[in-house]
Amino acid sequence: MRQVREPNSILSPSAAQQPIWPDPEALRAVVARLAEQPQLVSPRECDRLLDRLAAVARGEAFLLQGGDCAETFAATSPETIGRKVRLLRQMAEILAGSANLPVVTVGRIAGQYAKPRSSPTETRAGATLPSYRGDAVNGQAFTAEARTPDPRRLLQAYGTAADTLAELRKLDERTPSGELGLPSPRTSKSGLSGSEIFTGHEALLLPYEEALCRTDPLTGRRYGTSGHFLWIGERTRNLDGAHVQFASGIGNPIGVKLGPTANSDDVLALIDRLDPDRQPGRLVLITRMGAKKIRDMLPPLVEKVTAESAFVTWVCDPMHGNTFASPGGYKTRLLDDVLDEVTGFFEVHHELGTHPGGVHLELTGEAVTECVGGTPPVHVDDLGRRYETACDPRLNADQALELAAAVGNLARPR
Ligand code: PEP
Ligand code: CO
Repeated sequence: MRQVREPNSILSPSAAQQPIWPDPEALRAVVARLAEQPQLVSPRECDRLLDRLAAVARGEAFLLQGGDCAETFAATSPETIGRKVRLLRQMAEILAGSANLPVVTVGRIAGQYAKPRSSPTETRAGATLPSYRGDAVNGQAFTAEARTPDPRRLLQAYGTAADTLAELRKLDERTPSGELGLPSPRTSKSGLSGSEIFTGHEALLLPYEEALCRTDPLTGRRYGTSGHFLWIGERTRNLDGAHVQFASGIGNPIGVKLGPTANSDDVLALIDRLDPDRQPGRLVLITRMGAKKIRDMLPPLVEKVTAESAFVTWVCDPMHGNTFASPGGYKTRLLDDVLDEVTGFFEVHHELGTHPGGVHLELTGEAVTECVGGTPPVHVDDLGRRYETACDPRLNADQALELAAAVGNLARPR
């Protein structure tokens, strides 16, 4: 049995990127409340996703991950969720048709409420306050009241995730068990793409994640039940850190983001810790190197992992290595850079004979102007028109569909 973090480790000093909660007792009370709540997703659903991801690892399916950088509690109307889900389904159809492979869809949805930050504080006009860390922690407004971490927000995160999941389940095909992730009778013309959507988010706030761990009475295995797919971010993948320890103790499929500082020793050690049984589908390595670095940095990682016969799923996040500030001060990304990184990712895998398993994207179904490019084009000067993200810039629906078509072309059988 793998090591499991004890609930009393909730304020563990080894956990990176945790808010400074001003009232630890209030946090403990919230954690106790969360521990009594029903699971949000079931171990059975997590196992089903694991099976789907095993097919991706074998090269028999493609993974599409997408959604907001930071979901907000406000943007959870059925209409907003419906537009996001429709976009993901359209993208999955396009990809499945071109790649001639089934597409597994995992939203950054129903739990993506917490953000790691490069700086713990933000300074505006001489005033310094804690950084916004996602709706699960504090508010975006630049006031001391909004920015003070409030553990009651963790309960709100749970409730919002539950509401979002209920909406997703409504949008999913009705099944006798009413569970997400069942094979859908509604398939595309190619018969390859179902409508099932799994949920995923960065497992950042360990008190929240640990409070929602449950032991499956059927198997005795422990699962994080806050979402099906949980990933470890670029800033929290330290081998000895609390996030890796947490993930090593649960049965969910796990993702790890790998930025340009990741070396092959780090990656092999992470595989040993997180996937000691080399279980296909268990571990998804999400590279986010940047368009300029992917062709140099990815090959040694893939070669080393392949040489060790580790059976992982390789996924490309072409967003987080390509962010910059526009002259107007908007954090943005060029669709061309995003496309270039995905192209490099496919080139490397085709060259090495490994499966380019999928893409991990930040997108929204809303007609926002946060990333530059596409048709109709968003120009740098347009960014202020509808810039609404709570964190990183997202592709709008037109840009996301254009990207899906391009990825579909790259994924065509060769
Ligand atoms: C994210 O996915 O929003 C994120 C913060 O990514 P990374 O950990 O790769 O920087
Ligand atoms: Co982001």
